[in-house]
Amino acid sequence: MGLSKRLSKWLTIALVSTIPWLATSAAAEEQAGATEAAPTKPSHISAKVCKQCHETIYEQWKGSMHANSTALQDPIHGGFYRYVVGNPAEEDVKTKAGKYPVCLFCHSPAAAADGKTDLDSKVSYSEGVNCMGCHLLKEYKGLDQPDGSLKYGIKTYVMSDSAIQGSSGKNYTTNPTAANQDDPNFHPFPLVGNSMMRTSDACMGCHDRRNNAHGVPLCVTGKEYEKSSTFVACQSCHMPKVDGITDHSLAGGHGSANMRSSLILNAEVKKKGDGAAVTVTAKNPLPHAFPTGAPFRNFYIKVTAYDEQGNEIWQNFKQHPMKEDPQSLFVVVLGDEEGKPTGPPTARQILKDARLQANETRTLEYDIPVAGVARVRAEALYNLVLPPHIQMLGKIAKDDPTMPAMDKDLFKPKPVAVAEAKL
Ligand code: HEC
Ligand code: HEC
Ligand code: HEC
Ligand code: HEC
Ligand code: HEC
Repeated sequence: MGLSKRLSKWLTIALVSTIPWLATSAAAEEQAGATEAAPTKPSHISAKVCKQCHETIYEQWKGSMHANSTALQDPIHGGFYRYVVGNPAEEDVKTKAGKYPVCLFCHSPAAAADGKTDLDSKVSYSEGVNCMGCHLLKEYKGLDQPDGSLKYGIKTYVMSDSAIQGSSGKNYTTNPTAANQDDPNFHPFPLVGNSMMRTSDACMGCHDRRNNAHGVPLCVTGKEYEKSSTFVACQSCHMPKVDGITDHSLAGGHGSANMRSSLILNAEVKKKGDGAAVTVTAKNPLPHAFPTGAPFRNFYIKVTAYDEQGNEIWQNFKQHPMKEDPQSLFVVVLGDEEGKPTGPPTARQILKDARLQANETRTLEYDIPVAGVARVRAEALYNLVLPPHIQMLGKIAKDDPTMPAMDKDLFKPKPVAVAEAKL
């Protein structure tokens, strides 16, 4: 169905509804198959309502981590949420400190706007960062509060309660009369132009940074980006226009599609004694660290030497580089009070930040003490979490039937770059 046909169908419905811009019967119907009352405020409008006309954008969003950002859908967030907060389908759940779970300000904006914690109780809550989660952001105020504390997610914005924030700068009219049915300025919901939607401010409230309960920064993408003095907004890389439509797939660590542009790898090899000397360089061309975001994101470089027949004769590690070859693992290492490695919720300090910072180049050197090296291969492999987290999540899933299913490929290392050199 073309856009104008869809518009006229909508107009007929809108005309008979009582509150023209919000509680149309169509909106109610689309919302969870008529099991839920019509939305009474903009943040309650389900993405399914927008889907009727913005089908491509809806499908892109639906496959993204924004649509899967709650503890009901995302097993990694879901595991940590259950560990530090509790059941995401229960009302009035509090953190151990007796507070409203801060996670929801970023992971489920609609629930946070209502101060609710049962994410199953409304479609809009369970949709996580949905259309309205971003398109009601009106003005960015920043995280830093006068008393030195931080606010997060939707708390860092003035949220609109009256109009969708568009990016073209155009204002639309909602008057649903037959006369303006073909009006290019018609939109079924009030929609105003807001230039902020084209700037990084539209992302920063959730992506700038976050501290754990002990004040240890767990995520600092915004600070990394500011330090790199880049003037390109997040959207220019993360939301390219494809066939005239702004791509809402917003792929990151969970989808490896853009991963290949995230790292430049080079390998050189020369003779040394009976063996060989290898130099691997890794450059991060991005305006933020690689990896960025959640502190357990990591990549490592596997270096393999082959003989003339193509047999593997040497490798920089056998199982995992964490203990066997730490220099080839690019990750943040968090520590407890005594300086022992620990996970994000319990961390008291950052022991080491070994990720590649924006525009950084790092060199790894290896002496291969084996004769017969003919070819060397360096491969960078990206991982969402570290081995201890896989164990921890597995344990939580075993004891808790409400945990979302874990895809079998979720923890599989993803190749992001490769380089080869011949002797
Ligand atoms: C009845 C059809 C219809 C529905 C339902 C609909 N839209 Fe739209 N929308 C349009 C049309 C037509 C345009 C203008 C052409 C375009 O950009 O696709 C538009 C444009 C937009 C724009 C870009 C405006 C600009 O100029 O920057 C945004 C943002 C938007 N819609 C958001 C939404 C959201 C969010 C919802 C769900 C709450 C929604 N729309 C529901 C038809 C619809
Ligand atoms: C993570 C935040 C975010 C989410 C979630 C989101 N949008 Fe957007 N959207 C944006 C931003 C930012 C822009 C402006 C991009 C630009 O112009 O650089 C935009 C632009 C648009 C546009 C205008 C551009 C175009 O190509 O027509 C439409 C329409 C739109 N969004 C609809 C939707 C719909 C429908 C949903 C839900 C299915 C949605 N958006 C979810 C952030 C978001
Ligand atoms: C010059 C292009 C560019 C700009 C600008 C940019 N990014 Fe990225 N970003 C990438 C690429 C490429 C990747 C790696 C591939 C991927 O994950 O999509 C990435 C990865 C990410 C990831 C995934 C986490 C990971 O494992 O590394 C997040 C989150 C992210 N960027 C957020 C942002 C935010 C927020 C901004 C704005 C402050 C931003 N990016 C600006 C190119 C860019
Ligand atoms: C309302 C909060 C919010 C806003 C606004 C927001 N994001 Fe996100 N974003 C999230 C959350 C939460 C996640 C992590 C979801 C998860 O993995 O459970 C995420 C994940 C991502 C990822 C990683 C996806 C992956 O595959 O791992 C990228 C890339 C990203 N966002 C980019 C952006 C960009 C660019 C903007 C601005 C246009 C933006 N986001 C705006 C909350 C937000
Ligand atoms: C300031 C906003 C914000 C707050 C508050 C927040 N998060 Fe997140 N969270 C994000 C963003 C953005 C990402 C995506 C970063 C990336 O892709 O690396 C994310 C990703 C995650 C991930 C990785 C998910 C995955 O699929 O790999 C986990 C786990 C997580 N958050 C747990 C939590 C928990 C638990 C809380 C509350 C105690 C919380 N977050 C609070 C913004 C936030």
